[in-house]
Amino acid sequence: MSSVLVRPAARVRGRVRPPGDKSISHRYALLAAIADGVSTIHGYSTGADCASTLRCLRGLGVRIDETGRDPVAGIDIRIEGRGLRGLMAPSSMLDAGNSGSTMRMLAGILAAHPFSASITGDESLQRRPMRRIIVPLERMGARISSSDGRPPLTIEGSRELTAIDFEPDVPSAQVKSAVLLAGLHAGGVTRVLEPLPTRDHTERALDAFGVTVTIDGRAVSVKGEQRLTGRPLDVPGDVSSAAFWMVAAAAMPDSEVTIEHVGLNPTRAAGIIDILRRIGAEVDVIPAESPSPSGEPIGTIVVRHRALVSADIAPEEVPGVIDELPVLAALATHGGELRVRGAQELRVKESDRISALAEGFRRMGAEIDEHPDGFHVHGAHRLTGGEVDARNDHRLAMAFAIAALGASGPTTIHDAGAAAVSYPEFFSVLESLRA
Ligand code: S3P
Repeated sequence: MSSVLVRPAARVRGRVRPPGDKSISHRYALLAAIADGVSTIHGYSTGADCASTLRCLRGLGVRIDETGRDPVAGIDIRIEGRGLRGLMAPSSMLDAGNSGSTMRMLAGILAAHPFSASITGDESLQRRPMRRIIVPLERMGARISSSDGRPPLTIEGSRELTAIDFEPDVPSAQVKSAVLLAGLHAGGVTRVLEPLPTRDHTERALDAFGVTVTIDGRAVSVKGEQRLTGRPLDVPGDVSSAAFWMVAAAAMPDSEVTIEHVGLNPTRAAGIIDILRRIGAEVDVIPAESPSPSGEPIGTIVVRHRALVSADIAPEEVPGVIDELPVLAALATHGGELRVRGAQELRVKESDRISALAEGFRRMGAEIDEHPDGFHVHGAHRLTGGEVDARNDHRLAMAFAIAALGASGPTTIHDAGAAAVSYPEFFSVLESLRA
């Protein structure tokens, strides 16, 4: 994929509406596909990952029409639900592209369909661990073959799934969601007890579609055979995409960025807001008067630069900022210092993000120590810039760009086109914010 040259910036200033939330877009599309009746989704993510979910659903016989597209407000789509167990056997291999969310959550739904479906993905997805969903879905009654626990997966679903009580080894919203979606089709109550709380978009989305979900501390339960009702939905802006601008504003003197129509779900936004404040930034949060009609809180976030200080991110904070850790590492290259532990999951994301960050930031002149489960960025001296490899990983491409703004010279980011996985407009927005 293409390379991009990023020049240093003195500051960033402006207003941004981030693209539709990637996690929420996937869930609305998946639930709309198995609901009764029609759903419309406003502000669906423009990223390639969410297009992968729609492509897979079409391959399973779901009628999906794009009814509008706006570079700022996102995509509008209309989905004709096929009802529980209403998907059709695919005539060819499904392709989830780069999207782990698509593969893992769709596997939960396919587990309940009495046909065989194979699903693969790009080179990166083919390296990612799938035993975490294979084990519970097989316990529920599906049969899943894989390439030693990695994609491609062939899922032989069952009409008669059994409800389970499941405690995942890793905190993962994708695993929780896969099991709950299968549980929606099982006899009895399926319960997932998470080791640490993860994003709750599936629980909120199920509720919006009329399903009763019970939450008791870290346990989430759903009773099977509840039907979903199609409905209009509105996707908030993605706080994980907004995080790049929040960090850019925090990093550079005299900067201020306002993020509009952004998701404020506490399981997603509270982590990054807390950590930015701890590192010294001024962050104002203005919740909208009412949440989005689909049950996700939204609002405006304003971030202003203040002197940066050192911070630690503790293991129990990691699930709340798992996708923001690359850009938080970029923040520490501007000043301050950042220590992160308990983040071994970063090694099995779209790339091994710990090794890729360490390599990239070192090439740009940073001092960074790599640990099996985290990293330590010593923010003491200014980056020089240089040439870095985003390893085809969207969040790395964008994190390197935010670090590059503070360097003394330009930075060439190879594979920067990967940003389109979640934020196709990223590099043009970056140019518009340079003041
Ligand atoms: C996601 C959950 C997280 C996150 C990913 C999206 C989701 O992954 O990193 O980008 O939409 O549920 P895990 O569930 O693997 O932690």
